[in-house]
Amino acid sequence: MARAHLTIDPAFTIGPVRRRLFGGFVEHLGRHIYDGIHEPGHPSAGPDGFRRDVIELVKELGVSTVRYPGGNFVSGYNWEDGVGPVAERPRRLDLAWHSTETNQVGLHEFQRWLDLVGSELMLAVNLGTRGPKEAVELLEYANVPAGTARAAQRAADGREAPFGVAMWCLGNEMDAPWQLGHRDAEDYGKLAAMTAKAMRQVDRDLELVACGSSGRGMPTFGEWERVVLTHAYDDVDYISCHAYYQEHDGDLASFLASGVDMDAYIESVIATADHVRAVKRSPKRIDISFDEWNVWYLTRWQEQARHFTIDEWPVAPRLLEDRYNVADAVVLGGLLISLLNHADRVTSANLAQLVNVIAPIMTEPGGPAWRQTTFFPFSVTSHAARGDALRVAVDADATDTATHGSVPVVAAAATSEGSSLSVFLQNRHLTEATTVTIDLSAFQPTGAVSARGIWDTDVRAANDLRDTQRVGLRTNDTARLSDGLLTVELPPVSWTALTIA
Ligand code: AHR
Repeated sequence: MARAHLTIDPAFTIGPVRRRLFGGFVEHLGRHIYDGIHEPGHPSAGPDGFRRDVIELVKELGVSTVRYPGGNFVSGYNWEDGVGPVAERPRRLDLAWHSTETNQVGLHEFQRWLDLVGSELMLAVNLGTRGPKEAVELLEYANVPAGTARAAQRAADGREAPFGVAMWCLGNEMDAPWQLGHRDAEDYGKLAAMTAKAMRQVDRDLELVACGSSGRGMPTFGEWERVVLTHAYDDVDYISCHAYYQEHDGDLASFLASGVDMDAYIESVIATADHVRAVKRSPKRIDISFDEWNVWYLTRWQEQARHFTIDEWPVAPRLLEDRYNVADAVVLGGLLISLLNHADRVTSANLAQLVNVIAPIMTEPGGPAWRQTTFFPFSVTSHAARGDALRVAVDADATDTATHGSVPVVAAAATSEGSSLSVFLQNRHLTEATTVTIDLSAFQPTGAVSARGIWDTDVRAANDLRDTQRVGLRTNDTARLSDGLLTVELPPVSWTALTIA
């Protein structure tokens, strides 16, 4: 049996847990929108075509801000195609995903869906095939209350009140060779600064995100952030991070420790942003918008993409429909632990994505909607992580990984609000349970402890259309609290959330 000893003290805070840490991402991609959230013929669809069963699941997931409409898609998107009478909207080639975009859902429809879900809109502008002019035009259309042509156009399109979008992404993954309009850091940094300045001339209070690298493994990583921020530091509020993890060649031990990579990624970007701050002698601090993160079996997608033929442009094809198992969910729980442990600087994050496309929620046309395994750690953390993130001192046995070296067998994060405390734990051991003792004496806890999580004797177990409820949340009844010391036994390959009143 492995062991870990943790100490948590309310005096040692990291920072407030902002609701935006639990954002989602909806891209026009595959069956995300069409035949996902929007399926007019489905028995649960309302008059607006949105599936109510999906809306209920999204609410249960607890998603705060939703990034829209891409992703790679946005770098070829004309926002004007998605407004005005639906019947008159053009069908366009979506070059990013080799599909046909019908534009049946655009800004107005998506905002209506968000109103039903109760989430905030975060918009990305196209800096791939377009520029500052179109970004400002979209901003005018979306946010200017009245008195201009575009505000009037919005009212004529059915919405008198402005959308009031606060957070904007200045393009998407502009460092990436696969991105439409991809450019080098110098060019993008200047473009981001120029676009931000123009947008702030409309509204100086916007929150603007410059594109960081599309991954820590990109050859330009680090230098990209430095150069972009050198140009745009004064004009933006956030630099983005994107990270996707998958199990390579059956190396589950390394995969389970993906949070170690995410920690290093975040800390490098903070160091780079703070270096630029020092050089500029700026009082301003740039935070991280981790606006794409998830488990994604990217190599499967790369294989699928090789088979596109030039004359095939399907509407809503099945793309990136990863089926997540228990191990994937345990990894996702570990990534949430990493985000919480950096809550002082990662002040916004978006799980990529939400429905059908590398998603916690799946749907079948005319059929059910269901929770993937990854749904559970996200929804539990989103609801339980409140107040302040606390520093957790971890003294744990080590476990070896091929990719990350020797890592603590347990990863942990904690949050507290008022008299309630939540602790999130990941056991990375492949075969052994780990006994965790947590010194909570500084809290003088007296209340009840509940422990829920995800584990299974079959770490490859998953939910799918044949069995939508194979995997669910489980209760761990080993948790005991005595004299300020909490003891719990974590099964191998598991993720657990403890709440102590
Ligand atoms: O989330 C899928 C894709 O991953 C996004 O469109 C892109 O930004 C990233 O490469």
